[in-house]
Amino acid sequence: MGDGCGRAKIGPSILNSDLSNLASECVRMVDSGADYLHLDVMDGQFVPNLTFGHPVVKCLRPKLPNVFFDMHMMVAAPEQWIESMQAAGADQYTFHFEATEDPKSCIRKIKEAGMKAGIGIKPNTPVNVLEPFVELVDMVLIMTVEPGFGGQKFMGDMMPKIKFLREHFSNIDIEVDGGVGPSTIQQCADAGANMIVSGSAIMGSDNPRETMNYMRNVVEEAIQKSQLER
Ligand code: DX5
Ligand code: ZN
Repeated sequence: MGDGCGRAKIGPSILNSDLSNLASECVRMVDSGADYLHLDVMDGQFVPNLTFGHPVVKCLRPKLPNVFFDMHMMVAAPEQWIESMQAAGADQYTFHFEATEDPKSCIRKIKEAGMKAGIGIKPNTPVNVLEPFVELVDMVLIMTVEPGFGGQKFMGDMMPKIKFLREHFSNIDIEVDGGVGPSTIQQCADAGANMIVSGSAIMGSDNPRETMNYMRNVVEEAIQKSQLER
């Protein structure tokens, strides 16, 4: 289980930023108070889009030596990039349940490589498939859009998945990704998500620090409320 154990954290997704200025966009996010960076890797197979891979992560790492890199691996056969991502400086390797025949072995390989492991599901995948893996990983990711593109509409009907996980596994880190911003954060917080990925809402904000603080506070309040109720 993650050390985070339920703390509110905001991880900007730089997918919709000016990718020709990737490093400075990442630094801008960190200087504005990002708790971690969520880096979206797409291979054109698992999702119908392409972004970047480990060579880019390797160049980014020295510019952001102390920032936690959560690699969102939207790739087929995620086993194949574990070693190179670790060598490039990734901290967490979040793969998709749908992308591999053997999630357990993928988790084991990620841990053997010395990274934290995350497992995610797409909107059409039921949450119960995750049950055998929850205790083995550091984080579970619930997608609230079809993976592949930033700026899509938030799917509120994914909230029961988060609620289910929070009810059954009170201490795990649950990440939500897709269409999350100030107008949808309350739903995520109430459902029990604590690691918040947000792309266009933060990148496009006039004041990213304020936007992140606002979302972090909403989540922190929901966590405190749920602890009082327990
Ligand atoms: C979508 C990516 C997301 C995306 C989030 O496939 O996994 O991380 O960049 O961006 P927004 O918040 O704009 O939906
Ligand atoms: Zn993502």
